[in-house]
Amino acid sequence: MEEVLNDLKQWLCIPSVSSNPEAAGEVRRAAEFTRHLFEKAGLESVRLIEGEGHPLIYGEWLHAPGKPTLLCYGHYDVQPAEPLELWRTPPFEPTQLGDNLYARGAADDKGLAIILIRAVQQFLRAGKPLPINVRFLFEGEEESGGDHVSDYLREHASELHCDAALICDTEMFAPELPTICVGLRGIVYAELHVTTGEVDLHSGVYGGGVPNAIEAAARIISSLKGKDGNFLIPGFDDDVIPPTAEEEESWSALPFDMEAYRQEEAKVISLHGEPGFGLFQQLWARPTIEIHGIGGGFTGEGSKTVIPCSAVVKLSCRLAPGQDPDRIAKLLSDTVAAQALEGTKTSLKILGKAAASVVDPANPFVREAAEAMAEVFGQKTVFTRSGGSIPIVGLFKDVLGVPSVMTGFGLPDDNLHAPNEKVYLPNVYRGIEAIARYFERLGEK
Ligand code: BES
Ligand code: MN
Ligand code: MN
Repeated sequence: MEEVLNDLKQWLCIPSVSSNPEAAGEVRRAAEFTRHLFEKAGLESVRLIEGEGHPLIYGEWLHAPGKPTLLCYGHYDVQPAEPLELWRTPPFEPTQLGDNLYARGAADDKGLAIILIRAVQQFLRAGKPLPINVRFLFEGEEESGGDHVSDYLREHASELHCDAALICDTEMFAPELPTICVGLRGIVYAELHVTTGEVDLHSGVYGGGVPNAIEAAARIISSLKGKDGNFLIPGFDDDVIPPTAEEEESWSALPFDMEAYRQEEAKVISLHGEPGFGLFQQLWARPTIEIHGIGGGFTGEGSKTVIPCSAVVKLSCRLAPGQDPDRIAKLLSDTVAAQALEGTKTSLKILGKAAASVVDPANPFVREAAEAMAEVFGQKTVFTRSGGSIPIVGLFKDVLGVPSVMTGFGLPDDNLHAPNEKVYLPNVYRGIEAIARYFERLGEK
């Protein structure tokens, strides 16, 4: 346990923020540290794979003929740590408080990805053969929507033979409740630019005679969704494939207190979503349109009477199964063009796209994982979906033709992407045990 903790802390000290071009050196350092972890675990043919963007790390152990092969995936990049002033401990100085380890990347994904590496090490370092074959492929652009891993997968599919992918990058539904995630939403991320002219203008002298870029942007974004949470883009949800009645039923059996969720987890005044759907449907099986930020004009201290000549809006749609990312991107562009005020120039830049994915809970690789987790946690494993996205999961299915087994060991209060991200250390240790047990179970078949 001490060695796992030390390895993890060293990994977490490296600020591998993939979206920040200035952090490229740190991202590479994290890639090299990942290689070191792979080598230490006893993986073979370990190497950095260079390409456009941040390196991939590959490793393998293929000495269990006739046994299944798992492709273990994780990401060594992290989200930016800002706003720094909201962290109680420095984000890149991992700090243990009780059973939790605080740092950016503690749960997403270094603290969970290390579970896969360590599970291999438990066998190989003890001089025991692995009960199955494994390939490891880690990437450093998951959080920034980079294409390196998907390009590599498409070009090298024939060298990556496997029976299933194994991923530790999701959450447990509740503490102590072993959880397998069998659905993720997709995403289309976009940046909207609106310009009306060359310079900001005096709002008294010119107001009434010229357009306002922020108003124009606001009109566009408010044309996407109604006040009640209903979608206004024609045809937006036409292709959504709803969950089966059986799956929905299994969701309603999950232990859940809506008011506690509102107050303690989401910490919102009131929940708000698309009318006509239950919360799990809204979060896991319906699309969304979210505005992430608006820039332009003046928001400093005091007042400044100005008409902004430009505005930028960051927005994204989460996609439900069935929705085609290219079609949604086109619908968004068309809507922007149709809603643009006269005298404004608009452009919509698509920054990233990925389709949703669902996994059959009856798949034998999923079932064995559920059994292994139940053994270690002493409780029946539940199957949930998540509203988040892991873009490569869709490609594992489409390009390699394999299901992804998502055994998440994060907790709902891990503060993913937020200040004070942490991982609950007992879950890291139990996770290693559960994955090792999973390998054994697959080897016994
Ligand atoms: N690990 C998360 C996704 C996740 C979080 C799945 C919680 C299930 C439960 C992943 O690192 C992530 O944050 N993905 C991004 C993808 C985007 C940047 C393309 C996301 O969902 O925003
Ligand atoms: Mn992640
Ligand atoms: Mn993430």
